[in-house]
Amino acid sequence: MLDRLFSPKRMAALEESIADLANSCIDRFAVRGACDFSVEFANPFPAGTFLRLLGLPIEGLDEFLRMKDDVIRPGGADEDAANQSRQRAGAEISTMFQMALAEREAESRDDLLTHLVGLERQGDLTRAESINICYLLLLAGLDTVSGTLECAFALLARRPDLQRVMADPESIGPAVEELLRWIVTSPAQARVVTDDVTVEGVHIPKGTKVTALQATINFDPARFTDPLTLDVERSPNRHATFGVGVHRCLGSHLARIELAVALREWHRRIPSYQLPDGYNVTYTPALRGVENLQLQFAT
Ligand code: HEM
Repeated sequence: MLDRLFSPKRMAALEESIADLANSCIDRFAVRGACDFSVEFANPFPAGTFLRLLGLPIEGLDEFLRMKDDVIRPGGADEDAANQSRQRAGAEISTMFQMALAEREAESRDDLLTHLVGLERQGDLTRAESINICYLLLLAGLDTVSGTLECAFALLARRPDLQRVMADPESIGPAVEELLRWIVTSPAQARVVTDDVTVEGVHIPKGTKVTALQATINFDPARFTDPLTLDVERSPNRHATFGVGVHRCLGSHLARIELAVALREWHRRIPSYQLPDGYNVTYTPALRGVENLQLQFAT
């Protein structure tokens, strides 16, 4: 039901507005010659895209980022404080979705919320399901793109040869696929086995909780020539970074556009950049990203 709302054609229509977002982030630090890439680009850029996709006001970006962080990684002195912070932000976000959906009921617009209201009118969704969908998109579609951008730029900052490749917009499509194959920001998925099964001689009884490491597919020599080499011209590139099977990523077309636009606009404006001297990149576990990635460039 939601696939058509995320089709390549629909997502391509957002490209110009996504490029505007990338440029408005870059405008804020381009003359400074340095940035905290995570705070100033990798986080606000996908969050802004999310607001545009849903049809929510971009002026609320800072407040939205605060609520999103309180839901995904709440601060607080202890677990109770963190849970309270998460619940408070969760309620604020739900209210925001509630109000925006009610507005679309009164007046249609060309945005995802209006489409959800349309599905409600046909009896395909309830209001609670629409809100859950918005929530799912927030949880699935922001930090995955942020983490991929952080890992990609941490890698590119150490590879001037690849920065030069990115200067050619024609090279960006295959490079995005290879960076996705290489980085795999969400490498493992939790599953419960629904039937007794034997995999490679190992019996796994029904009900067992397993972790499926789909990232390993990306480095399988039976599937990729020279899988441990980063080849930004690799083609074909049938990686499993967006998952496999029925739960495969709903937002893959949008993610690809976001990554391609970010690489294109960044390299058009900042063709050469590096890590500061003596700076060590710290990768985050679970959902792969980089903590406060610092970049420097000539102005
Ligand atoms: C580079 C960015 C992204 C990566 C690496 C990524 C990766 C994934 C993976 C691996 C799954 C499968 C999870 C599973 O099997 O349990 C998934 C599911 C999903 N993704 Fe993404 N994702 C990205 C961006 C996005 C974006 C931008 C959106 C939407 C705005 C999105 C929405 C979803 C949704 C809704 C699901 C659940 C699909 C289902 O359960 O049927 N993702 N994603």
